Amino acid sequence: MTKLWGGRFTKATNQLVEEYTASINFDRKLARYDIIGSMAHVDMLASCGILTHQEAAIIIEGLNKVDYKIECGKVELDVGHEDIHMNVEQLLSKEIGPLSGKLHTGRSRNDQVALDMRLYLREVVVDMVEQLVQLQQALLTQAKTNVDTILPGYTHLQRAQPVSFAHHMMAYVFMFQRDVERLQDSFKRINQMPLGAGALAGTTFPIDRQQVADKLQFDGLCENSLDAVSDRDFVIEFLSNTSMISMHLSRLSEELVQWSSTEFDFIELDDAFCTGSSMMPQKKNPDVPELVRGKTGRVYGNLIGMLTTLKSLPLAYNKDMQEDKEGMFDTAETLKGALALFAPMIETMQVNKEAMYKAVAEDYSNATDLADYLVGKNVPFREAHAVVGQVVLHCINKGCYLLDLSLEEFHQFSDAIEEDIYEALTPASVVEARNVAGGPAKNRVQEQILSAEQSITASLSWVQSLQSAVKLDG
Ligand code: ARG
Repeated sequence: MTKLWGGRFTKATNQLVEEYTASINFDRKLARYDIIGSMAHVDMLASCGILTHQEAAIIIEGLNKVDYKIECGKVELDVGHEDIHMNVEQLLSKEIGPLSGKLHTGRSRNDQVALDMRLYLREVVVDMVEQLVQLQQALLTQAKTNVDTILPGYTHLQRAQPVSFAHHMMAYVFMFQRDVERLQDSFKRINQMPLGAGALAGTTFPIDRQQVADKLQFDGLCENSLDAVSDRDFVIEFLSNTSMISMHLSRLSEELVQWSSTEFDFIELDDAFCTGSSMMPQKKNPDVPELVRGKTGRVYGNLIGMLTTLKSLPLAYNKDMQEDKEGMFDTAETLKGALALFAPMIETMQVNKEAMYKAVAEDYSNATDLADYLVGKNVPFREAHAVVGQVVLHCINKGCYLLDLSLEEFHQFSDAIEEDIYEALTPASVVEARNVAGGPAKNRVQEQILSAEQSITASLSWVQSLQSAVKLDG
């Protein structure tokens, strides 16, 4: 097969080399971005007088046809043409003949591939923010209906102090809010236009890079041609941000798996989001959160893989960098799938308020409150802590809880305890007493809900303001 770069060669490429070095089997995903980028490039070449307007019009029409044919699967993408960039050019030559050879004027695949990846990734990032917001909304719905639902809060997976389920859900809302903000911040760095960097040192043609950037709605130009073609930190940043999202999803997944167990019985995931066992008829397995937890491994792997690939690479482009795509695609698809399931799964999750309440009623998670009560009676906190430790030990030996003790029994440990202790130690009072900014008391959770709703409104208008710019519809 004749190569676009074949002039300098006297032999055909070894078949195995051809297959080994090709990226078409995965970078075909970039076809649409590649073609849109080429159209903007050709348009600019014409307005700078490098091509005639008529030539540009023919090339653009040809590119439209190629786009349509690739989209409909009407053409074969060929390993012999190595990657999507050369495949598109070959297909264009079938449409319009030798004029297709003018498309690549003033451009290299090195700046072309950087452009395509940025176009791809900025769309992914906007869509991912939207999906994260949908998940936040589902968590908020659960929070709003569970402001009064009390469950144990844990440290070391030991019952620690009661919180409301709303408070617990809001913790995740804020984690995902930071994830949203990280993605939004990264968008600025993704949305820089590399074309015009050529292979590494720009071009001798009097091109207008700003025109291409404007046409493709980039925020600015990559400022150094070597950096423009060497930089993949925007990919690493994406893989890092998505690793963080996966970590958050994985922690939530783990809690959902635990809470679904008979031992906890705090929640029930909807049947539509669970699967059964081929052998044990009684089983209802939380496969979705388990798999999301499991897929965190590949998302982290993609990050470490990319960091390692780029380590020690000299400037500028090296073929190693072709390895930048599969991990990025895989992570984008993995997260897209997880987030699409998580929002409706959280939304439809049944909360077993009674089981949660039973868990707080039958434990010692109000022990801190007994200590705080004594502090209120002027007992130094350290002394109060020791006294309550003794009370708890007494209860454990007796097989009861703090609220089961009579006033006389309390008095064996401290005279400062009075009748009002029984009200002070109920789970509801214990939660309400934590009326500190960011705390689980009802009005504090309401404040959190309000603040998160404001953030969500802002995120949605960010998504709306960019969606039309990043969606490439030819
Ligand atoms: N397929 C290549 C990649 O994805 C495109 C850039 C190739 N450039 C080159 N000089 N061989 O990295």
